[in-house]
Amino acid sequence: MMKNELPSEENLKTEIQNGINIVIKRGDFVLGQEVHSFEKACRAYIGAKHAFGLNSGTDAVRFALIALGIGSGDEVITSPFCFVSNAEAIALEGAVPVFADISPLTFNLNPEAVKAAITPRTKAILPIHMYGHPADMAAINKIAAENGLAVIEDACQAFGAMLPDSSGNGISMVGKDSMFAAFSFFHTKPLGAYGDAGMLTTNNDNFAEKIRLLRNHGSRKHYYHDEIGCSSRLDTIQAAVLLTQLKYFEQKLASVHKLADILRDELSGIDDIINPYVEKGVRHNYNLYTIRTKKRDGLIEHLQSRGIQCRVAFPLSIHLQKSFAYLKYKYGDFPESEKAHDEIICFTINPYWKEEHIIKIAKEIKTFSKSHTLNS
Ligand SMILES: Cc1ncc(COP(=O)(O)O)c(C=O)c1O
Repeated sequence: MMKNELPSEENLKTEIQNGINIVIKRGDFVLGQEVHSFEKACRAYIGAKHAFGLNSGTDAVRFALIALGIGSGDEVITSPFCFVSNAEAIALEGAVPVFADISPLTFNLNPEAVKAAITPRTKAILPIHMYGHPADMAAINKIAAENGLAVIEDACQAFGAMLPDSSGNGISMVGKDSMFAAFSFFHTKPLGAYGDAGMLTTNNDNFAEKIRLLRNHGSRKHYYHDEIGCSSRLDTIQAAVLLTQLKYFEQKLASVHKLADILRDELSGIDDIINPYVEKGVRHNYNLYTIRTKKRDGLIEHLQSRGIQCRVAFPLSIHLQKSFAYLKYKYGDFPESEKAHDEIICFTINPYWKEEHIIKIAKEIKTFSKSHTLNS
């Protein structure tokens, strides 16, 4: 077998277990050897100057906000079409999440809506690379530069996704040219730990030093604390899991892409099914293969009753969540986001699936579609 050929699921599990056993034997559970090796491997893979393994993607965003000194009264523009964690991180720092609507094609922040949301209190823009489709960073970075704003990229779903290089000469990894990129290695993500894990990358040396201290109680020397920090370190055991997964990540992605292409072909042309958008010059990572349909709830019931796993990630815009009622947004404020929440169905494509499984999913979608035409 070639060194980096995707191993069988069984062999991969064994290799991961062996990596975990090495850590248990050595006992360096916090900031141990594998954490440093994983960070080094991520720096090389992404092309970012600094990479810090943390507890979660949520902490990664929060640390970027703290490093920027964002706090009371500051505004951060972000998308209401996302997991709640970014808005929480902003609010926990005493700042105000200000939402801007999405583009219906990519589910990502619409740069024109971002422009319209800027006020004198805006300090940063927080775009999300939703489902693994990179946001329009050229437009967002331009808006940020014109208005003196920081940019924190939520790349929690976008490890290995690629977008046009800032030089305009090709494509590069999400995070390579970023001020900050926050990654999640939650166990369901394409690069998944055995639990919670995350990473923050930056190309700025000063921010890097701040993050290094933040994640470890502001400590440069054991039991001496130069700044106020907290404990948010990637566990060495999780780093060992991730190091093994990273070794085969490109092969995993290639398999997912092959299966996604088959699904796309099978679904194209079906009444009322919209495939994920294909954008020239970007590489989707298919963290989730998300389709849209006006008959969403019926189709989900049909698929789940036939043993096909699918879900709605996420069902409710953040501006309509109870926890953010204090912001006084209302239904209708972000129509594209609200509509998308009502129409999406997400599939996790397992790289080990056989083509027949994809054909089965497509067949059931076709069967449902035939018996539930939009006019019926
Ligand atoms: C888009 C997005 N942002 C942020 C997060 C938070 O990441 P974590 O669960 O690692 O804190 C998630 C997790 O699902 C996510 O999907």
